[in-house]
Amino acid sequence: MHEKSVELLNRSVADELTAVHQYMYFHFHCDDQGYDLLAGLFRRTAIQEMGHIELLAERVLFLKGDVEMKTAEEAKPIKDVREMLEMARQMEESSARDYNLFANECAQNADSVTKKLFEQLVADEERHYDQYDIEVENITKFGERYLALQSIERSKNLATGTATEA
Ligand SMILES: [Fe+2]
Ligand SMILES: [Fe+2]
Repeated sequence: MHEKSVELLNRSVADELTAVHQYMYFHFHCDDQGYDLLAGLFRRTAIQEMGHIELLAERVLFLKGDVEMKTAEEAKPIKDVREMLEMARQMEESSARDYNLFANECAQNADSVTKKLFEQLVADEERHYDQYDIEVENITKFGERYLALQSIERSKNLATGTATEA
């Protein structure tokens, strides 16, 4: 029953696993370079993508399929912050597009619960897109000063003992 849905759900698991790896890679490097705000954004988004994997996996098992824990792609070793944000924005755009198509396909196959799940994911990915888009705009508007501010903020927090976990 609903074999096509299981296939689409597993393709999405692979896509989400790729996003988790890529965003955690970006998190590590933003943290290493002292950009706490962006490090925190990538980490929080990675955790939300992990939540997506959980929702997808639960639905796969409900449909009596099995979860394939394969990433669609390996994380790319990008260390330039603007390139990270542009790549993340593009990943969110393509996830939102795919999930819209998958929702339509599930509707055609009369699987309304999986359709709703994909629609829920579209809303989250659009929100992620928007968050990354704002940061790309900030870098475009303020350039290196925007990143410098984040480094200064970290130094200030460390000096005053108010440093918090990203
Ligand atoms: Fe996601
Ligand atoms: Fe996302």
